[in-house]
Amino acid sequence: MATMPADRSPDSTLALLRAGYRFIGERCERYGSDVFQTRILLAPTICLRGRPAAVLFYDNDRFQRATAMPLRVQRTLTGRRGVQGLDGPEHADRKAMFMSIMTPNAIRQLGQLFDDEWRARIPAWEAAGPLPLYDELGRLLTRVVCAWAGVPLPTSQVERRAVELHSMIEAPAAVGPRHWRGRLARRHTERWLGDLIERTRIGLFPAPPGSALAVIAEHRDRQGRLLPRRVAAVELLNVLRPVVAVDQYIAFAALALHDHPGWRERVRGDGEATENFVQEVRRYYPFFPMAAARVRHSFDWQGHHFPQGRRVLLDLYGTNHHPALWPEPELFRPERFANRRVDPFELIPQGGGDHWAGHRCAGEWITIDLMKRAVTNLTSTMRYDVPVQDLALDLHRMPALPPLGLTLTNIRRTA
Ligand code: HEM
Repeated sequence: MATMPADRSPDSTLALLRAGYRFIGERCERYGSDVFQTRILLAPTICLRGRPAAVLFYDNDRFQRATAMPLRVQRTLTGRRGVQGLDGPEHADRKAMFMSIMTPNAIRQLGQLFDDEWRARIPAWEAAGPLPLYDELGRLLTRVVCAWAGVPLPTSQVERRAVELHSMIEAPAAVGPRHWRGRLARRHTERWLGDLIERTRIGLFPAPPGSALAVIAEHRDRQGRLLPRRVAAVELLNVLRPVVAVDQYIAFAALALHDHPGWRERVRGDGEATENFVQEVRRYYPFFPMAAARVRHSFDWQGHHFPQGRRVLLDLYGTNHHPALWPEPELFRPERFANRRVDPFELIPQGGGDHWAGHRCAGEWITIDLMKRAVTNLTSTMRYDVPVQDLALDLHRMPALPPLGLTLTNIRRTA
């Protein structure tokens, strides 16, 4: 049995928080190995990156998700007892519920609402001063996803809910106030959506048929039971929160258009170029650093032993930047996707493998659709200037937005 390279430090949690997205990749380079051991949150942990590692990680016979996610992530980002921590038939059932919401028609409807809202906002943006894109998109996507999901949202509440949804995404890797804001936001939003689920079930609020609210409120598990109200709220939030989080990718797409202005012309009216551009934004920019699982039963792989119960982290960012998969991975080059089949274990910003059978992101198609529409809106329906500002990406910070988001000025409608 080969000796697995190991971090010498007794605990690497602080090093992980300091190194951010590059934590696993840097060590893989140092050890000359795509697998190594470390200790995170005082527990022994195996870190992996690369395509063979992703194939292994998404093998349900070898890994499980129960107890894999640290509590600080559950209390902010994901919630408790939701689909992310389920295994086996229970996961398959819950995941099928999510996938039933993601029909081509529903995705188109969400996209249409997004385009309509974007166009309707342009006159206000023209009249206003500098536009902080990330904050504005957060509000816009909050309005759009609530309308689409059947969740009533009075105008007076948009700002509050957008801030709450953002703070849950900001919180898992943060310490101090940023973390606590995320916890509080989760408690408030779960209560808000739990009440709504209850009112829907007793007929006080008519949820539009087929909407996420209706599907989740009415879903029955394999024993024919409704989801507990709190769990249903967690799952409804698993739709609302990540749709709003697409604002981060859209801000990255705007940043990429700014840094690579030649692509503004290339994507205009060209569906294939837009698709390649969006895929490269998802590959290149940092979002979820890693996914976590636990070894179900002990096994050996590539000469290394994986003991039962061991926590394993798959480096999503590092696999998207793996030099064996992506020549010159630190260059932003959308053309690398021309004539390339997108392999389910190579481009994994939203997880790998199969959407139904495993934990791959249920909202991946929605994400890609909204990003393509945003790129078209940024290049074809309006013009704008990007004033001088600090746009440096900080890969040590998770999530890694440019410090103040991206501010646009001088917005004019063009179509
Ligand atoms: C799971 C990323 C958007 C719903 C995941 C996972 C990642 C991810 C990394 C976990 C994969 C794993 O555990 O192996 C992202 C990113 C998004 C995004 C970067 C961009 C904003 C969305 C959207 C939705 C969504 C728009 C819903 C409309 C989900 C759900 C899961 C999930 C329900 C849990 C799936 C499961 O455990 O089976 N996502 N996601 N996500 N995502 Fe997304």
